[in-house]
Amino acid sequence: MAQGPGGSTELISSTDLDRSQEPASTQELSRAGVPLLSVQDLSIGVRVSGRRTVSIVEGVSFDVDPGQRMGIVGESGSGKSLTLRAIAGLLPKPVEVLSGRIEYGGTDLLTMPAKRRRALMGPEIAMIFQEPMSALNPVMRVGDQIAEGPRRHLGLSAKEAGELAVSMMARTGIPDPVRRARAYPHELSGGLRQRIMIAMAVSCGPRLLLCDEPTNALDVTVQLKVLRLLERL
Ligand SMILES: Nc1ncnc2c1ncn2[C@@H]1O[C@H](COP(=O)(O)OP(=O)(O)OP(=O)(O)O)[C@@H](O)[C@H]1O
Ligand SMILES: [Mg+2]
Repeated sequence: MAQGPGGSTELISSTDLDRSQEPASTQELSRAGVPLLSVQDLSIGVRVSGRRTVSIVEGVSFDVDPGQRMGIVGESGSGKSLTLRAIAGLLPKPVEVLSGRIEYGGTDLLTMPAKRRRALMGPEIAMIFQEPMSALNPVMRVGDQIAEGPRRHLGLSAKEAGELAVSMMARTGIPDPVRRARAYPHELSGGLRQRIMIAMAVSCGPRLLLCDEPTNALDVTVQLKVLRLLERL
């Protein structure tokens, strides 16, 4: 139920959204009362032989509304990272989604063609990984890694994307960002690498940011700063 512009009440349901189309805008979602992300009865696991499966995550359901922050808590090995990776379409083989639904902006991510789903990564959905070192390319300058997304998704020139990368680095609190943009990941501290990954994730202005223990590699004193930074971004 949504309040119309004239103050009258109109009934809008999730069926009003055209599910065959691109994800709905935040405004459309709010009007239709549809969450930004909806995970329903998600099970993740491995197919061992034929129809036999071993499940790792079973029956997970949650919704996230536009602008909402949500945390997932569980012991080590309970499947937090795999749940986030399933949403991002980045499950490590042979792990796969066994059943359930993942809808983003009213569209089904699991049945969407792979190419269209990949195109959502960056401008719509981004992920900050638990291990910054494994997520960064070791042989590419960090500035170029941040610039890659905006070049591809926002159509920026190399120069514009490079400038955006430096300004994103400055916004994440990296000192001397012009010089640091030319560094390789191994030349930076764990804290700086984590900030590079945050800059990379937010560079295209995604609506959904999946954070897998984004302060894991940081000193306790820096953790609070990074959380405040994420809140601001
Ligand atoms: N590539 C893989 N192949 C098979 N099993 C895997 C794979 N990756 C993870 N698992 C298993 O899936 C389970 C859940 O792993 P996951 O990394 O999602 O846990 P987590 O809740 O993020 O743990 P932590 O708090 O330690 O990060 C674990 O038992 C793990 O052994
Ligand atoms: Mg994890």
